[in-house]
Amino acid sequence: MSTYGAIIVGTGSELPEKRLTNDDLSKMVDTNDEWITQRTGIKERRIASEGESTATLATAAARKALEAANLQPQDLDLIICATVTPEMIFPSTACFVGAQLGVSGVAAFDLSAACSGFIYAIVTGSNFIKSGQYKNVLVIGAETLSRITDYKDRGSCILFGDGAGAVVLQRTSDAKRGLIYSSLHADGNGAEVMKCMPGSRHPISESLVREGKQFMQIKGREVYKFAVQKFEELIESAMRTCELTVDDVKLIVPHQVNQRIIDSAMEKLNMAPEKAHVNINKYGNTSAASIPIALDEAWRMGKLHPGDAVIFVAFGAGLTWANAVFRI
Ligand code: UT7
Repeated sequence: MSTYGAIIVGTGSELPEKRLTNDDLSKMVDTNDEWITQRTGIKERRIASEGESTATLATAAARKALEAANLQPQDLDLIICATVTPEMIFPSTACFVGAQLGVSGVAAFDLSAACSGFIYAIVTGSNFIKSGQYKNVLVIGAETLSRITDYKDRGSCILFGDGAGAVVLQRTSDAKRGLIYSSLHADGNGAEVMKCMPGSRHPISESLVREGKQFMQIKGREVYKFAVQKFEELIESAMRTCELTVDDVKLIVPHQVNQRIIDSAMEKLNMAPEKAHVNINKYGNTSAASIPIALDEAWRMGKLHPGDAVIFVAFGAGLTWANAVFRI
């Protein structure tokens, strides 16, 4: 048992200005606002402009989180960035963020667990704190999914958006606060369900690009079934292990996968739909960025207070799935 707690002391988020509405998409592929709204709950998503990238969005979110935490970049011991759309293959996005924040010598690395990435990252960051190694850790989820989206594929292009969210974690002597439970899972046998191929097995080549394989490929129906099942299982196991009743849970901040998936899971869990903080209508699915963006919104709306229990839940490519319970 650690003698330290890792608490959230500041949150921030950054969304590109540019909006892509359902009506805009209906001019690009055979779709319409009614279909997208009914099947996903999404009305619009944000798209990075030229000059914006995963690191610029991540840095802007990080600055806001640091300001909320009343800390300077120099106070940080570690920067972790969860992303599947990194600034470059290397150096890591987290290194670019450190440079843009003006720090040198602060540990920095990226973490890849797709839509579950932010939970993997916040658990990793918390454990560096709980072990006593670090005091202040910046955890970011940042994506520019528009850069790997095929805007000719109506089954996927309606879903995704760009953005970044960040939290600052800090050591406290109260081990009962901050991260109190987490479970992280993966099954690489599900790799075919969602993937984006360029890499060492399939280096970028003219033929790869000709076939459109530089873009992500998803089997939406399979993701749908997997997500509903895992959402329920992960919330139930978190509540059971932490001995939390429905009333004890102040807020669920889920990966913003699909309004229907979230509603259906909340119903099966006998929880009021408003117990889940959802903003998918405005931003779509931003993968690793979706939970910290939603958390920052909920935090700034005054939905969370010291002592509240909040559950994060996510599932995504890998396949991966994860949960984490924080006592604010
Ligand atoms: O975070 C990880 C990534 N997230 C996901 O993969 C999201 C999870 N999946 C989903 O949210 C849903 O599966 C989708 C929103 C992607 C699709 O909804 P669905 O209810 O599962 O639709 P479907 O794929 O079963 O397709 C139903 C019909 C098909 O037509 P037919 O075969 O019934 O004639 C599709 O061709 O809807 C058609 N369709 C569309 N129609 C209008 C598929 N995409 C569209 C579209 N507009 N954009």
